[in-house]
Amino acid sequence: MQTVTLAPHEIREAVSMREAIDAVRGGFVDLAAGQFEMPTRTAMRDGHFLVMNAHHRATASAIVKTLSVNFDRVPAISGTVVWTETGRADTLVADAATVTTLRTGAAVGVATDLLAPADAGRLTLIGAGGQAPDQVRAVHTVRPLRELTVVDSDPRRAEALAATLAPELTGTRIRTATDPGAAVADAEIVCCATPATSPLFPARALPAEVHVNAIGAFRPTMRELPDELLASATVVIDERAAILAEAGEILHALESGALTEDDLTELGTALTAPEAPRAGRTVFKTVGVAMQDWTVARLLADKFLP
Ligand SMILES: NC(=O)c1ccc[n+]([C@@H]2O[C@H](COP(=O)([O-])OP(=O)(O)OC[C@H]3O[C@@H](n4cnc5c(N)ncnc54)[C@H](O)[C@@H]3O)[C@@H](O)[C@H]2O)c1
Repeated sequence: MQTVTLAPHEIREAVSMREAIDAVRGGFVDLAAGQFEMPTRTAMRDGHFLVMNAHHRATASAIVKTLSVNFDRVPAISGTVVWTETGRADTLVADAATVTTLRTGAAVGVATDLLAPADAGRLTLIGAGGQAPDQVRAVHTVRPLRELTVVDSDPRRAEALAATLAPELTGTRIRTATDPGAAVADAEIVCCATPATSPLFPARALPAEVHVNAIGAFRPTMRELPDELLASATVVIDERAAILAEAGEILHALESGALTEDDLTELGTALTAPEAPRAGRTVFKTVGVAMQDWTVARLLADKFLP
């Protein structure tokens, strides 16, 4: 019996964003088909410690992820993903920060591919922290970017991210900004990746046709999107139980009457629907579920376990 332990660079070298997107897409389809046993995650100390687990029935394999979260620390997320399966005794332990950014980017890639107009190539990213690079990489994988605007309340963070991404985004015009409202005005795709507790921009700041991804709010007290956007958009979510437990902007919109639960479509269902909801404004709201970690861990187990 062997326990393989994987550091961030080993995960990065082993799994491309394209592979992660394809794996996470398959995971969402399996989730909608009832292939996962996946309890809503346990949040302790008001979200400072998270424990997540998922079991995939067809392969009799499972993961447990534990995280500590601290936005005053770099990186904000730290922990492990542990992979086990009934068919072999070998186990795998992977750095959770790397798995998390990959699988969160990948979910946004899947949703953007489904929901954004086919020719969309102008992205505004709000929040230039730990999640941000893989948000951009994922969107670029499914919609090659002509223009990228990086917004952060800390301009140095926006500049640093722009410099990090520039070598990977040859052919993309990159600029930085500090005002989210102005920066989304001509966006075709928006990614929100902040721990904000109030909406990042008013709905009127957005164009009539735009796809918005929001990964930030994972506690009922957090919000990145305004009610008016959620009321006027097609809203796709990662998983209903997780969203109803944690997604601040969705809970706010349900309480205000801007949304009803019937307005929410799970990504796995949308992926298997005959026609994708593509017109006007679309929103993908994700709090992140353990199935996504399982999909990346499975890629790693296939590559690294004997
Ligand atoms: N949905 C998921 O699956 C998932 C996965 C991981 C993290 N997250 C969440 O995504 C968010 C970002 O995570 P991170 O690790 O990148 O955090 P981080 O602390 O590394 O970065 C957040 C960035 O947002 C900026 N920011 C904060 N408020 C802002 C505002 N109002 N306007 C503009 N910029 C602002 C900060 O300056 C910082 O650069 C967190 O809330 C985190 O919990 C979600």
